[in-house]
Amino acid sequence: MAADWQLDTASIDDIPALLRLWREVPGIGLGRGDDPPSLQRFLERNAATCLVVRSGSAVRAGVLGGFDGRRGFIYHLAVHPDWQGRGLGRALVEEVTARLWRLGAQKVHLFVYPDNLAARRFYRRLGWVERGDIVVVSWDGRNAGSDGGPGRTAGPAEGQNR
Ligand SMILES: CC(C)(COP(=O)(O)OP(=O)(O)OC[C@H]1O[C@@H](n2cnc3c(N)ncnc32)[C@H](O)[C@@H]1OP(=O)(O)O)[C@@H](O)C(=O)NCCC(=O)NCCS
Repeated sequence: MAADWQLDTASIDDIPALLRLWREVPGIGLGRGDDPPSLQRFLERNAATCLVVRSGSAVRAGVLGGFDGRRGFIYHLAVHPDWQGRGLGRALVEEVTARLWRLGAQKVHLFVYPDNLAARRFYRRLGWVERGDIVVVSWDGRNAGSDGGPGRTAGPAEGQNR
């Protein structure tokens, strides 16, 4: 039987549907960078590695892939609950990693909440490996100086926000 879905490169026109999808799917944390102008910038910079799955004209799943010239990163992999368990997630991950690899990414990383056990099992099933040897260390633009520069370094008592 022919598949009733197709994988496609995402376009800027898909941003509203992607936002709707991410709001409907538990496990996706939206934050700064997820407003339409920021997403448009991400898609323009990573035109070949942001993907959607469509059924007819409806977006059922999607992923953002980005290449920084050294590593690939993937964000917001989501399959609509009615469409989970049908191979869409695997197809998206395999396609986005293949495209990132062709661009030159020798490794691809992603963030997953520790309590998102379903996603962790899914990635393990696909052969991904959880790292226990690193911690994520982030610079937070909320601490930036008024000129948009890096600002002062937070002291130990201030460095609590995530
Ligand atoms: C995680 C998610 C992307 C998986 O997508 P999916 O389309 O349901 O997964 P697939 O049908 O492609 O499954 C691929 C493989 O993973 C396995 N798998 C999927 N979910 C699994 C789970 N919770 N536990 C164990 N294995 C799982 C499948 O059995 C399948 O194995 P096979 O291909 O060897 O037969 C989807 O469930 C989802 O959108 N979850 C909510 C959002 C989320 O947590 N995203 C990750 C953010 S980091």
